[in-house]
Amino acid sequence: MSGKNIHSEPFDNGTITKLEIFEDYAQAWIPTFVMQPRFGEIHIFDFFSGPGYDSNNIPGSPIRILNKINEQLGNILQSKTKIVLHLNEFEPNLKAQKKFELLKKNCEEFILLNPKFKYFLTVNYYNENAEDLFFKLLPTIQEFPSLVYLDQNGVKFISQEYVDELEKLNTTDFIYFVSSSFFKRYGKTEEFKKALEIEIEELESEEYRNMHRLVFNKINSRLPENSELKLFPFSIKKNANIYGIIFGAKNYAAVDKFLKIAWKRNNLNGEADFDIDEDKTKIQLDMFEGKKMTKIEKFKNDLESKLLENTSVTNKQVLMYTYANGHIPQHAVDLLKQMKKEGKLDYEGKSPFLNYENVFRKYNIVNYKIIK
Ligand SMILES: C[S@@+](CC[C@H](N)C(=O)[O-])C[C@H]1O[C@@H](n2cnc3c(N)ncnc32)[C@H](O)[C@@H]1O
Repeated sequence: MSGKNIHSEPFDNGTITKLEIFEDYAQAWIPTFVMQPRFGEIHIFDFFSGPGYDSNNIPGSPIRILNKINEQLGNILQSKTKIVLHLNEFEPNLKAQKKFELLKKNCEEFILLNPKFKYFLTVNYYNENAEDLFFKLLPTIQEFPSLVYLDQNGVKFISQEYVDELEKLNTTDFIYFVSSSFFKRYGKTEEFKKALEIEIEELESEEYRNMHRLVFNKINSRLPENSELKLFPFSIKKNANIYGIIFGAKNYAAVDKFLKIAWKRNNLNGEADFDIDEDKTKIQLDMFEGKKMTKIEKFKNDLESKLLENTSVTNKQVLMYTYANGHIPQHAVDLLKQMKKEGKLDYEGKSPFLNYENVFRKYNIVNYKIIK
């Protein structure tokens, strides 16, 4: 066996999309904590690390995380934040754990090339079944600000027992990978039913492109009624299959970061690496059916109706509505400015001050007056 890797094939485009979203989120998440020395120690968990590279030496999740840590070196050294990286790789039913050996070798090589890592980075390697390791590491996940990646093959980790534990955590952001369209084929099997119970009729009536949304909605509906956990989906098409990411966090800073990453990847829907609602065709006027609204147009339309039901609304209320609907603040800002121009709404100054920074960090709460 030569080379860095034994992933038998190169990563496909869908996998690259997933890995880029993982690393974009690490890039946004790490500075949140290293810019504030009070956190002291942060933990990143990659429960399904793989060997580190694909067959073309394209980095996988653990090397991408290390790269993102490397990019923040200056800030990390300055704030003296400790980073603990937990990397796990396990091939069930195999005696020789070659991927795990490669994972260790590849990460150790990377770390040797970056000698400053020794001042702040600890890497814990595990060669264990993630199903058990998850529960073993839960106390650590609970104790520190944590970022958890669950890049599974399949669907097992969306089962209630794992989501329940993640739901209880307050300073943890997590990203799942789920083979959602497999439910269409295997939804009746015990393994899939154990992960998530979806009625056969629902599976059969739902359009294929919406399979990840269906899985996502089921998981969301299983959360306790007053849960503060906020979940968001991102569908990924790989050949004939629909996979997807599920992002979860309790705080709005995390939500803001994830939604910005998602909308930057796809400014049509912020929710898929393809045109999931055929918005491109909706942009063109439909002569027979009338114009259909795109996702952004529908959001603005609904928000305008909501605003017009009131006499006064705060920027915080609008921002929370915007996040809850999976949109970025800019979409609401565009509408507010337009409504002001049309004399339907008023606020002082030029800007509606509608962003995370103003509302949640500076507590700059602004009232919008609805003009009747
Ligand atoms: C989708 S791949 C993850 C790829 C990886 N994140 C990367 O970027 O290359 C899933 C990985 O989990 C490993 N795996 C499968 N079952 C596992 C289990 N029960 N516990 C831990 N790892 C497992 C597989 O060997 C495989 O390398």
